[in-house]
Amino acid sequence: MTSSAVLGLQWGDEGKGKITHVLARDADLVVRFNGGPNAGHTVIDRGVKFGTHLIPAGAFHPEALSILAGGMVIDLGVLRQEFDEIAAHLGSAPTLLIADSAHLILPYHRLLEELEGSGAHFGTTRRGISPCYRDKVAHVGLRAGDLLQPEIMTRRVERRLDLLKRLWPGSEALADMTAEGLVAEQIENAAPFLESIGDATSAIHQALQESKRVLFEGAQGALLDVDHGTYPYVTSSSTTFAGLGNSIGIPTPDVPRRIGITKAYTTRVGEGPFTTEMEGALADEMRKKGGEFGVTTGRPRRCGWLDLVAVKHAAFVNGATELALTKLDVLSGIDEIKLCVAYERAGERIEAFPLSADVLEECAPIYETHTGWQEDLTGAKTMDDLPQAALDYIARIEEMTGTSAGIISIGPAPEQTIHRGR
Ligand code: GDP
Ligand code: IMO
Ligand code: MG
Repeated sequence: MTSSAVLGLQWGDEGKGKITHVLARDADLVVRFNGGPNAGHTVIDRGVKFGTHLIPAGAFHPEALSILAGGMVIDLGVLRQEFDEIAAHLGSAPTLLIADSAHLILPYHRLLEELEGSGAHFGTTRRGISPCYRDKVAHVGLRAGDLLQPEIMTRRVERRLDLLKRLWPGSEALADMTAEGLVAEQIENAAPFLESIGDATSAIHQALQESKRVLFEGAQGALLDVDHGTYPYVTSSSTTFAGLGNSIGIPTPDVPRRIGITKAYTTRVGEGPFTTEMEGALADEMRKKGGEFGVTTGRPRRCGWLDLVAVKHAAFVNGATELALTKLDVLSGIDEIKLCVAYERAGERIEAFPLSADVLEECAPIYETHTGWQEDLTGAKTMDDLPQAALDYIARIEEMTGTSAGIISIGPAPEQTIHRGR
């Protein structure tokens, strides 16, 4: 295995956790590079199902080092809980390295989302993601490395709290917070991994230099990217391959295999335009069959047909060298499957994905209709086990995106994965 990256091509929840877990069997290092506990990545490890939020899905293979890179935002309470759960499952602690430059989500970041109402307006995960990234760029954030200097950290938290209390004088929850209390809580949560905080950039650089097998795990998807997604209905980090280099501090990392993950249909959680969204019985059936409920918030996911205009854009901005097509099994039993191949706006055909949410709102899908298949795909081991209609569907996706599908996933378990040509 050369170095690889697993990158979402839709609005998240494409199956990054599953695919990372499968590929991590052959990895020396697994690096989560963006986002924070807004992510929910499902892993089925030896029959036990986990939802990971911060620890890379590769941590279930303890011989690989799991890195939380500098571009992440970390809630130490969530990390502690996840660390304890995985340690109990494995019978030993996962081997972590936490970038000292990764930012920390403090309780006031979560509270700010409530006070400002952004959770309701944008349908965020309410995990404090945007307030934390905002503090980072406003240079008033706290970083993992600060935990090693509690006195300096306390002074910084005090300054931040002072200002927030002046901005939100009516908030009792804020009034109750003290810098000493917050820092003590952070340090207590971080106790098992305080010594794992360090220089992630050098570790990743050295591994790449030594041709070790490094697997990068993205969170969210390209359509939620702060620059290349459906702004303002996006998350606050760079979710694409371009964000990876910045997060790890290596400008042009040698990652020959860039796997863009897409479901065989589309889902979205939270607000924002969704051109191929379906309502009614078929959407309900898809949601039920595909288990389309958020791992982090439990919210029902909006469901629709596969939007190839969006996926093509996402593959391009990620420099995807191949696709991983997941959840193909969920489409079994549908007589006619639709594929969105272009949009129509004000009587004009559009093939380039509009980055403005307002323009996207005005687009209607132009569909091709494909004959479906009735067979259950969940036991397929090779491409030869798939019905011709499913093969045709895959071929059309490859043709439209100009990218071949190297991995086909036909169920949530690791063994329900077809590695094509490998
Ligand atoms: P992530 O955020 O990209 O890691 O994706 P999530 O874990 O949030 O959502 C993907 C869901 O689909 C999870 O419940 C997975 O267990 C499940 N899943 C992944 N691949 C497949 C597949 O090929 N078929 C089916 N039926 N479920 C899958
Ligand atoms: P994974 O890694 C799906 C969405 C939220 C909201 C928007 C902004 O599991 O694919 P945020 O809390 O990030 O400020 O919310 O982004 N969102 C996700 N949707 N999967 C995710 O992660 C998501 N992370 C954020 O629903 O619309
Ligand atoms: Mg998810």
